[in-house]
Formats: sequence, structure tokens, C-alpha cells
Amino acid sequence: MDSIKVRGGHPLKGEVIISGAKNSALKLMVATLLTDEKLTLTRMPDLADTRFLSGLLNHLGATVERDAASMTLHTARLASAEAPYDLVRKMRASFNVLGPLLARNGQARVSLPGGCAIGARPVDLHLKALEALGAKIELSDGYVEAKAEKGLIGAQIDFPFVSVGATEHAMLAAVLAKGDTVLENAAREPEIQDLADCLNAMGAKVSGAGSSTILIEGVDRLRGAEHAVVPDRIETGTYALAVATAGGEVLLRDAVWKHNTALWDRMSAAGAALKAEKDGVRVIASGDRLAATDMETRPYPGFPTDEQAQFMAAMCVADGRSVIRETIFENRFMHAPELMRMGAKIDLRGNEAIVTGVESLRGAPVMATDLRASVSLVIAGLVAAGETTIGRVYHLDRGFEHLEAKLAGCGADIERIKE
Ligand code: UD1
Repeated sequence: MDSIKVRGGHPLKGEVIISGAKNSALKLMVATLLTDEKLTLTRMPDLADTRFLSGLLNHLGATVERDAASMTLHTARLASAEAPYDLVRKMRASFNVLGPLLARNGQARVSLPGGCAIGARPVDLHLKALEALGAKIELSDGYVEAKAEKGLIGAQIDFPFVSVGATEHAMLAAVLAKGDTVLENAAREPEIQDLADCLNAMGAKVSGAGSSTILIEGVDRLRGAEHAVVPDRIETGTYALAVATAGGEVLLRDAVWKHNTALWDRMSAAGAALKAEKDGVRVIASGDRLAATDMETRPYPGFPTDEQAQFMAAMCVADGRSVIRETIFENRFMHAPELMRMGAKIDLRGNEAIVTGVESLRGAPVMATDLRASVSLVIAGLVAAGETTIGRVYHLDRGFEHLEAKLAGCGADIERIKE
């Protein structure tokens, strides 16, 4: 297992090019199952998760070709409508093949998912949405067996709470259903809009994405298309917090300002300067310690849970006491004990972390526990005195493209140790 070594104390200067969004790319790749024509995705990140999903799509009959920045997927015919445990357990997003398989094939068998250990993360809303669209669903031996032999039928689906994955799954299934589908209390994340744009380029009729109500008029078939993956707002936020914490000034090229307004609000309150520019977003560290700032995670457009760990790393060295409340996942403070090994003062009380900023952290060997947690340890390492070694970086490789190269390009002292 590789590890990453960071020697802290170097401000970041220069430019980082923001990659396509992992969370969007994974759902866009799945859309290949809805058409027998080619789907080309540009600004496509090359990540452990996208490679892993390519393997599952191959198994289902897709050919996947990739070059430096794009991927072309082609599912001329399905080779299988079964997604086995070994190909689903590592990554929750692979569960989203169920709806498209059902829409194209009338029947599918998909293992229940795994993914980051950040809470129970059930899939009940996904299954209720598919049932509302007319699927008959049975659970047996850890598998979901779904049938819709006469095809899916448009329906009104009211989500009891906001789920990104369930909203996307319902969209991926309903585009080929007979009649209209209305999704109420839909997630509003930019990735939802991105999926709608791609499906519409393929001939679907999806409107309202980005709002809480999405209308999908079913069509008989979808065609091939070319689509650029939206820039990764979580990667953007991660580098923005790295700069604000380690010091310096960096242009986040291609970052979309309006996709991170909740973070900009909290970072400005803490004393960092942020500017929307023609080519992206510029982050300028305050030159002094950040001011402790409270934060609560919420569904978009609120503060993203995927930026909570990174924000906590920043608050560990801020001046004063901040209260960080996690409202989306019930077990998402696994980075806190690791940050404490580096000298952070964090008091965990249920879904609240009370962080008392310290003047400096010290380098230490630490362990990555999930994808976003691991990058918070990198941020802490960038500002800590001495050397930090982060183990189990395969978590990090799932979602951050060329992380060491991007940071080293801005002056960080960081390297990967291959085992
Ligand atoms: C997606 C993102 C993830 C992000 C999360 C919240 C991808 C690949 N992952 O995950 O990075 O942290 O959105 O922004 O896009 N829930 C249920 N039943 C369900 C579905 C969800 O109870 O059927 C719960 C979850 O346990 C969680 C909450 O709803 O507490 C929100 O989860 P959801 O928005 O579905 O997250 P994901 O789509 O899994």
C-alpha cells in the first residue's frame, strides 16, 4: 500500500487545474447502458473509482476506451444484466447500474453496495423510486433482483429527504420509461444538472434539474453524445482550503465560482480572500491565522459534507474555537482522531466537533480512513511542523487526480512512497 509523505511549512503559489468531478463522472459513465450508440465524456478524470467502474461496465458489455482527457463508452448490446458482489462492493456508485439495466433489459440483478465507511448508507430510497416506476423488487442473498418486463412507467416520486444518489438513479431509470415522471424534493447538486445535460444531449427530455422538482418525459430510445464533465467542486474546495491553511495564493483554473458559495462564505468569514476570475477562482490566504468559524453541512446549496474534513483541518490551526456540525452522515468524523495525533484539539460530541485552534500542528504518521478524510490529513500535513506520513492512500486515489503533482506544482514538499 502506497503512502504519502508531506513536509509542512511551504506556502502554495501558482495554479491548479481542476479536474472533472468524480461524483458526476461515475453517473455519466453509467448512462452508456441506456444506448447502443457511443457516449464520449471529455474532461474525464482518471481515478481508481472511474477505472473500477470501467471494469463493471465491461462486464455488462460496454467497451471503454480512454485517452488523456476523455473516455468513450459503447454498449452495443448488454452482455449481462447482473452486477456481482465483487464488482459492486468497493464503490457505492456502482449500484446505479440497476436502474439503467432495468430500463434497457426489463430485468436486472445487482449486489447491494459497499463504499466509504461513513455511516449506514442504505439504498431504500433508490429501491422505492424504482418500485414507483413499476419495478418488482426482491432482496435475496445480498442481491437486489428487479423486474419490469413490460418496461418502466413514469410516476410521481416524492423523496422524504434529499438523496443525491437516489435522485440520479431515478433520473437514469425514468428517461426511458413510458410517460412522465416528476421527482419532488430532488437533490440540487451541480452533478444532477450535469447528468441532466448529458442525458438531454443523448435525446432525453429532462427539465428542472438544479431545482427541487425535476420533470422527465420518457422517450423510446437514447442516442450517442459527447459531453464535458462538470469541474469538480469538491476538489476545488479542497485546494482552496489547502491554500487558506498553508498560506500563499493559487488560481484554481476551471473552478466554477457558483458551485461553492457556501464554502466561500465560511472561508471569507475565516479571513481568506476569494475572487471569481475569468479562468476560475483565485484564493489568497490571509497572511495571518484564520479566524475560527462555525460550519454545518447541508444538502446543496449548503456546505458540502464532502468538504467537512478539509474545513476541520483548516480550523485545527485557526485562532479560536469553532463548532462543526455534520448533518448528512452519522459517522463522518473519523479524521478527527488522526488530526489529534498531529496535535489538534477536537472534542467530539455526537454530530458536533468542537475544534479549539492551536498555533501549530506537528507531523506524525497517520492513517487515511475514507476518501475526503484522507485529504484533510494532507492539508494538516502541509501546515504541520516536520514530516507527516499518510498511510492507506488508496482511499485518496479513489477521488483525487494527480494530487501530489498538483500540490508539488505549487511548491508543496510532498511525495508518494511506493510499497
Ligand atoms: C453522494 C456522493 C458523496 C456525498 C453525498 C452527499 C457520489 C458518488 N457520492 O453520495 O460523495 O458525500 O452524495 O452529498 O456522488 N440515504 C438513505 N437512503 C437512501 C439513500 C441515502 O437513508 O436510499 C441517506 C444516506 O445514508 C445519507 C443521506 O441519505 O445519510 C444522503 O446520502 P446521499 O445524498 O444519497 O449520498 P450518496 O448519493 O450516497
